[in-house]
Amino acid sequence: MAKINDNYLKLKAGYLFPEIGRRVRAFAEANPTARVIRLGIGDVTRPLPPAILKAFHDAVDDLANAETFAGYGPEQGYDWLINTIIDKSYKPLGVSLKTDEMFISDGSKCDCANILDIFALDNVVAIGDPVYPVYNDTNVMIGRTGEADDKGYYKNIVYMPCNEANGFIPALPAQKVDIIYLCFPNNPTGTVAGKAELKKWVDYANANDAVIFFDAAYEAFITDPAIPHSIYEIEGAKKCAIEFRSFSKTAGFTGVRCGLVVVPEEVMGTTSTGEKYSFNKLWLRRTTTKFNGASYPVQRAAAAVYSDEGWQQTREIIDYYMENARIIREGLAEAGLTVYGGVNAPYIWLKTPGGMTSWEFFDKLLNEANVVGTPGSGFGPSGEGFFRLSAFGNRENVIEAVERIKKNLK
Ligand code: MLT
Repeated sequence: MAKINDNYLKLKAGYLFPEIGRRVRAFAEANPTARVIRLGIGDVTRPLPPAILKAFHDAVDDLANAETFAGYGPEQGYDWLINTIIDKSYKPLGVSLKTDEMFISDGSKCDCANILDIFALDNVVAIGDPVYPVYNDTNVMIGRTGEADDKGYYKNIVYMPCNEANGFIPALPAQKVDIIYLCFPNNPTGTVAGKAELKKWVDYANANDAVIFFDAAYEAFITDPAIPHSIYEIEGAKKCAIEFRSFSKTAGFTGVRCGLVVVPEEVMGTTSTGEKYSFNKLWLRRTTTKFNGASYPVQRAAAAVYSDEGWQQTREIIDYYMENARIIREGLAEAGLTVYGGVNAPYIWLKTPGGMTSWEFFDKLLNEANVVGTPGSGFGPSGEGFFRLSAFGNRENVIEAVERIKKNLK
């Protein structure tokens, strides 16, 4: 009989968001008249902006004519999209990148998971706690970890607690690590890191020959001009950092699927015999073997995000979500809750009232206010006692959810 990958059996529970979905469905079946408002998973609700939709439609029409038909594209993405992103999104930050340092994909979740293919299993990995669960679980799946302890910490992963005391920004690891996951603006806490903070990590990585996986999926939601949008704004980062970006939240592509990875040529690792080798070459090899590229219409739609019209319409939607974030943040603070995030990020991270556990608060809000959020403990043990609300709902629902929560807590 074929053997399974036993590493999957080490995983403690189902993936967080399907588990929440299961509980919400059970509640809705038992309470068919309840109007449940979902501010749990960070899924967008605004339709695609017209300029992007037009480019998407036009690209589908291209497929109807022999002259404009597109079959397999370059596995790593079309140059016209890559160069547009470099010009419109990186150059204004003072960051220059080569075309072959960027890889277009079908989304950041897969990229964050797939990148592990090109790193040896005996690398020591450091991740935040709480954290986007994909970083932790994919390391378990690939076999880098031992079993989890009673708290949920896996053997062989270095966890970096993020809590109120450190402002949800982890301290540098006390031991030498080889791979560090950083996510700013942070999912789930909504925290951002300034240049001095990021410099500390880049310096650590360069001094320890470590690689930083920098997840910048939420960079478009930064409102403070002093906060960096890319790790490459930090001197020395091109030697040690791989950056992930996503069109999901920025441009409403959660269902369309498009993301990108930047692997600068200078980021090097060593072979088992000690020679230096470029991760860029390995990632290209992996991509061309295991992927056939994001679809042509999707890449056309992604390029339209950067047209003048497309970007203006995209910005309006980002502003809409950030106004939601303000409404949630201020409303919950008025209700007496301690709230974090929601200023440079579309997530609000709140402390559960009365010492409730995260799941107790989840059940209370679901049953009594019919509002769905995400229990902080689902992001890691240090998330216990916290709760995340997403600002990606529609305005009416966001206002009503805040009113319901306020009433519920009175
Ligand atoms: C979240 O809610 O944390 C995100 O939507 C999950 C994701 O981007 O995969």
